[in-house]
Amino acid sequence: MTKLVVATGNPGKLREMQAYLADSDWELTLKPEELDIEETGDTFAANACLKASQIALATGNWAIADDSGLQVDALNGVPGVYSARYGKTDPERIARLLKELGDEVNRGAQFACAVAIARPDGAISLQSEGICRGEILYAPRGNGGFGYDPIFYVPEKELTFAEMTPDLKRSISHRGKAFASLLQQLEGIREK
Ligand code: IMP
Repeated sequence: MTKLVVATGNPGKLREMQAYLADSDWELTLKPEELDIEETGDTFAANACLKASQIALATGNWAIADDSGLQVDALNGVPGVYSARYGKTDPERIARLLKELGDEVNRGAQFACAVAIARPDGAISLQSEGICRGEILYAPRGNGGFGYDPIFYVPEKELTFAEMTPDLKRSISHRGKAFASLLQQLEGIREK
């Protein structure tokens, strides 16, 4: 098994990535706590590459990183790469977004996720992205999930992300799609 360092301090994210890569022969581990990489990129892909590359270089191992967020059409893609920094707590972030959108009738939005894998020398070996389209509701619905899930409605399923089972959300989400595409490319990258 080859060690793959996950560029996050969040054990929840490690578990999620372990679930996506369960059938692969990579051994996932959390990055050392003291290593903190600032997300200075202006796209999800730039931030994922930056984190994977720097963690690989610092640890001398293969590294994987993701970056994700919500892009609202009528707000020109905001909060985007600032999704996590848009407020102090999830309820504050949701309240701010609903206020900014107000009565706007164009409620179109998408979640986007970029994933990158870097070699031990820091070079980016693989990248993938996934998108999930939906609409922003006027008020939260559902108790599951995290972040902006209660206001993100997927018309084809007639449910918000917060009303879906974890399996259903994984099968259609931005992160699920990004990892599905990554898995397809993962085979054989160590030999290249
Ligand atoms: P990061 O990818 O950990 O930098 O943070 C992304 C931020 O975007 C999170 O803190 C959430 O606010 C938001 N976000 C990303 N993916 C999701 C999702 O699946 N549901 C709800 N919010 C999400």
